[in-house]
Amino acid sequence: MSHNSFGHLFRFTTFGESHGPAIGCVVDGCPPGIPLTEADIQGDLDRRKPGQSKFVTQRQEPDKVRILSGVFQDERMPAQVTTGTPIALLIENMDQRSKDYGDIRDKFRPGHADYTYWAKYGLRDYRGGGRQSARETACRVAAGAVARKVLNQLYGQVAIRAAMIQMGTQTIDRTRWDWDEVSRNPFNSPDPGIVNQWADYLEGIRKNGSSIGAIIEVVAEGVPAGLGAPIYGKLDADIASAMMSINAVKGVEIGAGMGAATLTGEENADEMRNGPDGKPQFLSNQAGGVLGGISTGQPVVVRFSVKPTSSILNPRKTIDIAGNETEIFTKGRHDPCVGIRAVPVAEAMMACVLADHALRHRAQNDFPSPLAGEGGAPRA
Ligand SMILES: Cc1cc2nc3c(=O)[nH]c(=O)nc-3n(C[C@H](O)[C@H](O)[C@H](O)COP(=O)(O)O)c2cc1C
Repeated sequence: MSHNSFGHLFRFTTFGESHGPAIGCVVDGCPPGIPLTEADIQGDLDRRKPGQSKFVTQRQEPDKVRILSGVFQDERMPAQVTTGTPIALLIENMDQRSKDYGDIRDKFRPGHADYTYWAKYGLRDYRGGGRQSARETACRVAAGAVARKVLNQLYGQVAIRAAMIQMGTQTIDRTRWDWDEVSRNPFNSPDPGIVNQWADYLEGIRKNGSSIGAIIEVVAEGVPAGLGAPIYGKLDADIASAMMSINAVKGVEIGAGMGAATLTGEENADEMRNGPDGKPQFLSNQAGGVLGGISTGQPVVVRFSVKPTSSILNPRKTIDIAGNETEIFTKGRHDPCVGIRAVPVAEAMMACVLADHALRHRAQNDFPSPLAGEGGAPRA
């Protein structure tokens, strides 16, 4: 009932609070024999870690991961590999500043989960938001790195990439989309042309003591047709749930998403032809790579919005735990636009959903089809 675990066959459980000694996760269900070292995980954690530019929180966390279990190597093996047993991953908290949060012990911060945690549990660790803090998302990124290894082992290269495509009212020019740009600018933008504009925009918002929301797009390429399940195990439903579980996410769409409401049947249904490799080729991708809850083999395309950071310097009306009306403004170190650091988290959640569905697919469908000789029942 405590809901700190995600996934079915590829399953991870996270633990830890923002200002506790450490955070971490246990990844269970990872198949044996997959090469895995701390370096495989560290790269993704480095992309999420705080303090990397003036546009993110200045908390300084090295976010160094340690693998505590579930891997092994001896002289017969060229590399350290997973053993099929639980993989425990630990990240120490190094830069807590709990005194910043003394003021909010008894006050509920608007937009935060202070009131709801209080209503549910009757007490809360208010230091840095405790368990509600997005510090927990580092654990998801670590689990996601393991998920990527599983996917690549099964299907060759599965590219899971995300980018920030809108900050506040300012949207990228999609004709300038360049994935290589994402790692070159502090906003994870795929559009180099918008970077200076976003810098001025966010700097203005930050100087005014405020914050702003954003939209992230996640694309998974190399996903074979056949992952997912009908009705209650839909791939798109699981992806939407995974993205919605990320802190601050308020809206999720797949493929044409909300825009599908304005399309005609001709515009929306993705027409099919035979591709050069003998596999079906779709002439568009309004479906976002999922039909009937099952992957089509096209890129899986997801977008989500994050709300503006709730911790802002400008005073807001609130109440305290005794029911007194009061005001609050937030000290401490915060992301003025949480969308920036949500990018690697989104990739990780996509990887975990796909790895889970890949293992679930194999568990049910790794049997010969009776129609195998009849044009083949193509299977992932
Ligand atoms: C990567 C990331 C970093 C975040 N950093 C902050 C932050 O510095 N300050 C803040 O108020 N909220 C931050 N948030 C959002 C809060 O964690 C979140 O809004 C809060 O816990 C309430 O949960 P909810 O918005 O999901 O309802 C961040 C979210 C993400 C994904």
